[in-house]
Amino acid sequence: MALATVILAAGKGKRMKSRLPKVLHRVCGRPMIWHVLSAVRALRPDRILVVVGHGGDEVRRAVGEDVEVVFQEEQLGTAHALLQAEGPLRGFPGEILVLCGDTPLIRSTTLADLVARHRSRGAAATLATARLEDPTGYGRVLRGPAGEVRGIREEKDATGSERGIREVNAGIYCFGTGELFELLAGLTPDNQQGEFYLTDVVGRMVERGLVVADYALEDPEEILGVNDRRQLALVEGIMRRRILERLMLEGVTVVDPGATYVDAGVRVGHDTVLYPFTFLEGETEIGAECHIGPGVRLVDSRVGDRVTVQYSVVLESVIEEASQVGPFAHLRPGTHVGRRVRVGNFVEVKKSRLGEGSKVPHLSYIGDATVGGGVNVGAGTITCNFDGRHKWPTVIGEGAFIGSNVSLVAPVEVGPGATVAAGSTITRDVPAGALGLARSRQTNVLGWKKKR
Ligand code: UD1
Ligand code: MG
Repeated sequence: MALATVILAAGKGKRMKSRLPKVLHRVCGRPMIWHVLSAVRALRPDRILVVVGHGGDEVRRAVGEDVEVVFQEEQLGTAHALLQAEGPLRGFPGEILVLCGDTPLIRSTTLADLVARHRSRGAAATLATARLEDPTGYGRVLRGPAGEVRGIREEKDATGSERGIREVNAGIYCFGTGELFELLAGLTPDNQQGEFYLTDVVGRMVERGLVVADYALEDPEEILGVNDRRQLALVEGIMRRRILERLMLEGVTVVDPGATYVDAGVRVGHDTVLYPFTFLEGETEIGAECHIGPGVRLVDSRVGDRVTVQYSVVLESVIEEASQVGPFAHLRPGTHVGRRVRVGNFVEVKKSRLGEGSKVPHLSYIGDATVGGGVNVGAGTITCNFDGRHKWPTVIGEGAFIGSNVSLVAPVEVGPGATVAAGSTITRDVPAGALGLARSRQTNVLGWKKKR
């Protein structure tokens, strides 16, 4: 059976006090609406529509090719928002699942259950409901004597006793296409907020004698909406815990889940240990049996198996298996660390390749360099890659030995198996197997102290 999904996301999000549209605020590294979309995509619906208004173009760029974007020029209420999908959905032969862009904790299994309930009941509408300790701000579910749904009352329009109802409208609905748009078009904004309420359609359906079913959520956490930045932090905390729990069940040790931060979509292999104050961000992927942290930030990076990284920052880089990075290393974008490499204390590497088994153990800057395998770079060695105008490359051949405190003035090449003497400033290429020595000779003035 066909299914279309409409995500309402045109609201301004005033309470966020932000220039950014609300649904683009990030939760565990991804825009809020990304989370909603991934729950929706898991259902494999035939159509996905997002209703946008404020910052609509920005939202459009963030949602992906499979999403149809519908503009709601003026935000006249949730019914008016859904009505914008009438044209695009004209003649659509299935159900319409409606939800909000600001509830990133919703699970795909819940949406699937809601749709299944709707179909098995043959209902005109099925609404998700939840029982909350504190229902403040939500629409309340009104029921008749036999427990049947009669309608939804928004808090601002509710009487004192209606406000006492703790069963709330989750804002997630499944509708049949039959009378939906006709009823939506007939609504009036005669309420406290002067808005066209989608929730009113439920009462209208009941009046018409249509079947209105309900689906009670087991975990009310899923409907937590983000309206201000306190709720953003609350939702982020719940999402973070969910991500870490999934990793732990997959065989990852998280030493302190309260102090470990993993973005949605990051992958971590089994038997890897994440130590406190580790941040795994963006499109990061970690292999098996690694030790990551304490104190590590990895962004958009790929790490092989059995790698150790501690107290370091790694951006848009690759670290192949069995390598060691840190403490206190900074790998900047475009770095490729080969297998069994050691990048040690206070080393910065930028846009460079380090070949298998090479070592840069202490106090170095390696930029725009290609370093072969089995190279030893002595303490304090730097590539002078910038002449004030241009960046130039450095090439160090396989098995070369670079003594301590060497300056390699690029563009320059040290051949395979060459040796560069400590303290040298290398401005010309060093041929393979040669010794490059470029430092002034030492003079000892004998008896100098006595003469003074
Ligand atoms: C709505 C429900 C309420 C429910 C709650 C659950 C209505 C009238 N009320 O209230 O019963 O308990 O959600 O979270 O529907 N939007 C548009 N265009 C508009 C207005 C809103 O796209 O003109 C979007 C918003 O961006 C948001 C969603 O619709 O994603 C819900 O709107 P919001 O104003 O947050 O409704 P609530 O007051 O939360
Ligand atoms: Mg809301």
